[in-house]
Amino acid sequence: MTDRPRILLTGAAGYIATHTWLALAEAGFDVLGVDNFANSSPKVLDRLAPLLGHAPRLEVLDVTQTDALQDLLRREPVQAAVHFAAYKAVGESTQKPLDYYRNNLMSLISVCEALRSQGCHRLVFSSSATVYGDPGVLPLREDAPTTSTNPYGATKLVGEQILRDLGVADPAWQTACLRYFNPVGAHPSGLIGEDPRGTPNNLMPYVAQVAVGRRERLQVFGNDYPTHDGTGVRDYIHVVDLANGHVAALRRLLEQPGSFTVNLGTGQGYSVLDVVRAYEAASGRPIPFDTVPRRPGDVAACWADPTHAHQLLGWQARHGLARMCEDSWRWQRLNPLGYDSPTPDTP
Ligand code: UD1
Repeated sequence: MTDRPRILLTGAAGYIATHTWLALAEAGFDVLGVDNFANSSPKVLDRLAPLLGHAPRLEVLDVTQTDALQDLLRREPVQAAVHFAAYKAVGESTQKPLDYYRNNLMSLISVCEALRSQGCHRLVFSSSATVYGDPGVLPLREDAPTTSTNPYGATKLVGEQILRDLGVADPAWQTACLRYFNPVGAHPSGLIGEDPRGTPNNLMPYVAQVAVGRRERLQVFGNDYPTHDGTGVRDYIHVVDLANGHVAALRRLLEQPGSFTVNLGTGQGYSVLDVVRAYEAASGRPIPFDTVPRRPGDVAACWADPTHAHQLLGWQARHGLARMCEDSWRWQRLNPLGYDSPTPDTP
């Protein structure tokens, strides 16, 4: 037993969730993780243990199974949930829209129902900057127009709407929608990080695998965008900063009434070539690349106005691009095969 507030973490073995787990533990929360390992490895638990100083408590459970989740929460009541469990590959979502709508929306509904059944009405939801579609005005404020351009993005947009509707129907609900920009980097220990299955879809994990020799060359998707060097510009945010954003959001929900939506970004945009150069500097390895046509669905540029998160939560990102690349590289270098690599020495 513990008198620390217990928090349910769904999708707890995932990339952002594991970093948030550590941040929550450091902030004095008692974390109850659930995951069905649909897109993650149980091996992450062995990496979390030395960082937490104890074995992580994780129940293997599919959160769309509301009865099983309710049973768990009856045994282990929580004060709030941070809901990460979702599918997240944009390209795959266009091939398997029903899987995405079913999994991402049913999991959210199920978590809300299970929380409500034990009298808990606090939820932090993983949203995405993808809800802004092709941005009209930069930097993006939370009141910018939203739209969806693929089924994955639609599940985030509808997820936000579900939570708004829930708050209207029952003002007891307090929810936080966190619109992530581009999470990258890894915990400085080198023990946990991003471990994509198959070919990485996202830029930094792909660059990391080129640096470590797992892939030969990067493909740069387009050099004819209206940006400073023609390649796409994004707001990369260190995953540890992002994790701390969840702690700040949760504290706010626990301490004050009300619901909110915030951008979690740095406010600074970098191009694909900026990232390549920063990674070369961090790793000391060349990143050979070819320029190929634009990837369908990509926007030219996207970065946040993070003012609202700062004013509301007192949170701001601390780490710059060099640190993001250094921490990503340490993780990749120590774990060339991700969690299938032997565990590096504990720091
Ligand atoms: C992508 C998703 C977004 C999701 C986010 C999660 C798409 C279209 N968008 O965002 O919905 O929320 O991941 O992190 O998939 N790039 C290359 N070569 C590569 C990979 C990427 O040049 O091999 C470029 C892209 O064209 C883009 C930039 O790198 O300009 C960042 O791409 P990526 O890391 O995939 O993130 P987003 O597309 O911004």
